[in-house]
Amino acid sequence: MILVTGGAGYIGSHTCVELLERNYEIVVVDNFSNSKPEALEQIRKITGKDFKFYEADLCDAEATEKIFAENKIDAVIHFAGYKAVGESVQKPLMYYRNNLLSTIVLCETMKKYGCTKMLFSSSATVYGNPATVPIREDFPLSTTNPYGTTKLMIEQILQDVVVANPEWSVVLLRYFNPIGAHKSGLIGENPNGIPNNLVPYVARVACGKYEAVHVFGNDYPTPDGTGVRDYIHVVDLALGHVKAMEKAMTCTGVNVYNLGTGNGYSVLDIIKAYEKACGHEIPYVIDPRRPGDIPTCYADPEKSFKELGWKATMGIEEMCADSWKFTVNNM
Ligand code: UFG
Repeated sequence: MILVTGGAGYIGSHTCVELLERNYEIVVVDNFSNSKPEALEQIRKITGKDFKFYEADLCDAEATEKIFAENKIDAVIHFAGYKAVGESVQKPLMYYRNNLLSTIVLCETMKKYGCTKMLFSSSATVYGNPATVPIREDFPLSTTNPYGTTKLMIEQILQDVVVANPEWSVVLLRYFNPIGAHKSGLIGENPNGIPNNLVPYVARVACGKYEAVHVFGNDYPTPDGTGVRDYIHVVDLALGHVKAMEKAMTCTGVNVYNLGTGNGYSVLDIIKAYEKACGHEIPYVIDPRRPGDIPTCYADPEKSFKELGWKATMGIEEMCADSWKFTVNNM
């Protein structure tokens, strides 16, 4: 039985689908702080399978223990956490308390119940502003905001837990920029309030909710001057978790993998691909650079391919087409 924390969220829900479709048994926990119960119904609809769900906050040790007491949890995929960069700068204590405490309580409970396997949702943000690209897993680590620091601190906590408990198996997955949605159009990303991330914002301009995309800077040292990122289809990312789980089951220690495609696309490339998906022009304006943004970020996905046998297969046109299908269904 696999416990999926944050299973109603964007990446969590897509991973639940891929796990259920491969006949893994799952238990989901979420406190809906940035997700909705409907996502769980959609997972059941897509897969035709049922699973147990707990509405609980992992910072609550009693509630977390109840999940382990009532289920035989063999492994945990830990998605749950706050994830907005800007908000983390405004509310650092809220981010440190939530992201660190929930992980510590989770690990303590795993230890108590003899559960020794975990996949952790880390982020390419732990590479800071890389000196060169593509980014390999052994590049130096640094962060520029409290959200990123929580990811880096949790990586460190998990490393230390494994030193003290060498029978544990932890896989740190560093995500690049997940976008897109499930082919069914039933699950995807629809953040509350004004989206911070590019594609959810572009989607709202494409469906007429907002007037224009604000492009944050066109004077970066990139081919068209706009920021370059490694956008990865969320279903490819979910499949990376299935492969990482197979790895975690067969080894001990800490393993670190990039989950990216290895390709970099600019903000304007994404707008163009989205125009193709929705069939009409998407207005945009050039704004100043967003503080804390870096020019270019993309993965070297070689290690994931060699050691996990995983590789992303979908391109940005498919990512944008699937995002658009979800947007049309849900706006
Ligand atoms: N951008 C715009 N306009 C917008 C939003 C974004 O031009 O309205 C640009 C950004 O400047 C950047 C690119 O689009 O060049 C992507 O921005 P996102 O906010 O979508 O993604 P980031 O790369 O900034 O951050 C994402 C995740 C973080 C994670 C990081 C890892 O949101 O959680 O990738 O590299 F830490």
